[in-house]
Amino acid sequence: MTLNNDPLWYKNAIFYELHIRSFCDSNGDGKGDLLGIVSKLDYIKELGVDCLWLLPMMPSPLLDDGYDVADYYNIHPDYGTIEDFKLLVDEAHQRGLRVITDLVLNHTSDQHPWFVESRKSKDNPYRDYYVWSDTDEKYKGVRIIFTDTEPSNWTYDETTEQFYWHRFYASQPDLNYDNPVVADKMIEVVRYWLDMGIDGFRADAVPYLFEREGTSCENLPETHTYLQRVRAAMEAYPGTIMLGEANMWPDELRPYFRGDPNDPSVPGDEFHMAFHFPVMPRIFKGLRLGEATDIINIMRDTPDIPYNCQWCVFLRNHDELTLEMVTEEDRQLMWNEYAPDPTMRLNLGIRRRLAPLLDNDRRKVALANAILFSLPGAPIIYYGDEIGMGDNISLFDRNGVRTPMQWTDDETAGFSDTTPDKFWASLIADETYGYQRINVATQQNQDDSLLALMKHFVAVRKANPVLGWGTCEFIDLDNTAILAYHRAHEAEQLLIVCNLSDTPQMVTLPLADVVGQTPTDVLTEESLGVVDAVEYGMTLEPYQYHWLRFE
Ligand code: GLC
Repeated sequence: MTLNNDPLWYKNAIFYELHIRSFCDSNGDGKGDLLGIVSKLDYIKELGVDCLWLLPMMPSPLLDDGYDVADYYNIHPDYGTIEDFKLLVDEAHQRGLRVITDLVLNHTSDQHPWFVESRKSKDNPYRDYYVWSDTDEKYKGVRIIFTDTEPSNWTYDETTEQFYWHRFYASQPDLNYDNPVVADKMIEVVRYWLDMGIDGFRADAVPYLFEREGTSCENLPETHTYLQRVRAAMEAYPGTIMLGEANMWPDELRPYFRGDPNDPSVPGDEFHMAFHFPVMPRIFKGLRLGEATDIINIMRDTPDIPYNCQWCVFLRNHDELTLEMVTEEDRQLMWNEYAPDPTMRLNLGIRRRLAPLLDNDRRKVALANAILFSLPGAPIIYYGDEIGMGDNISLFDRNGVRTPMQWTDDETAGFSDTTPDKFWASLIADETYGYQRINVATQQNQDDSLLALMKHFVAVRKANPVLGWGTCEFIDLDNTAILAYHRAHEAEQLLIVCNLSDTPQMVTLPLADVVGQTPTDVLTEESLGVVDAVEYGMTLEPYQYHWLRFE
């Protein structure tokens, strides 16, 4: 098998996000690596996903788990070599799997040779690679992202008695994109990895590339112009994509696609894909309150995007469950409901995994995924969530949601040949989520496992391209515990109906268009009663969902 050459493959793709250090250790040093991933490609293929997203893999002091890059042209020695990376890409492609990697444009590590030079003296040739200032009064009012640790976006550097700018940790100085040399150098980085055959990038923290006085220093026109340049460079590599990480409201995200949704002759020419951040916390809120309104509202506020663009939707990822895109009131509500223990909180978010967030309640985990896999956008599965892994909030920063993958119930959880005391992070070993109970091998043998269900979602989603391509109309209902939406593309249609609450709910759906037809749930192939009137009544059990086809 090889890759199909559909340039729009990402429209109906499913992504698998993977933390290299935690996936599989091939050389017994207690840290996952690229060859470990190679050994697990068949597992990933069997899951049915289309594309791997690899978290940062370049040399780094790992003060932000690799988002602090010290060398853009190499692989972190813990993870392997460039040759290993080429092998991984090749082996993935042979299985029809694509590979995208993280691309950190906004900042480097303070250990990067550019910064090591830059901070030496004011007249160092690399001085201008970063953003320096005599005062920390510049760009006043720009929000701080890592609120728990960073008192300011400026850090004073004694050697040259100036401040440098950083939107994240102080160990991650922001590059100065006003310097054309920097702008060019980062395009070279893009080309270097694309030349290696990868299928694109997850572009990290892109809203912050430029700074301008009197603005929020986010989503600036200069930033868009630069990203279009990156995109233009990518055009030489057909089929590659840029998936942008901009944690913004839908109307702020819209300009990152550009193009005209109503005119196919004006396709998008900036991001191919962007994460839909705001819908994610609303799914969790909806499930907690048994109330669909917020999900519907945010999706109705989501602008149309050009045909060659796509959203990416997710429930969890390697970061905290971010609550930046909710009101202050909802943030408090989410913290109270989902992070009762303050150590579960981090910055403006919650550092927990999917299964524990949803009380390890199979019905809720299934429903959350039923929504994820049927909303507009390409879904992402975060490694380990397909088997319902737990978290370890005693670990530093976001490491609690990045623990070693649980492959088997052996002492090493099948993660490594070395003993667990040498693992870079301890295994989850508690009674509920421990590897002894929650692991791939066990679930592979059970027809009713979460893993089996996830494979089923992937397969049914793939069999129904309307979910990748279709329009989405939300249905207004008197019963707001029910979330219902209609997906349509050409002759294909699906009606999604979900009970977000923990009690049985009756709902009357307006189905004038399909009177006389019989709905069948494509997930179970079970038929419901024929639609014999324009109003169709049904009862859904707690957290029950249907993906209905009419015939
Ligand atoms: C992104 C990454 C996050 C990282 C930050 C700074 O938000 O997802 O893990 O800490 O960028 O690079």
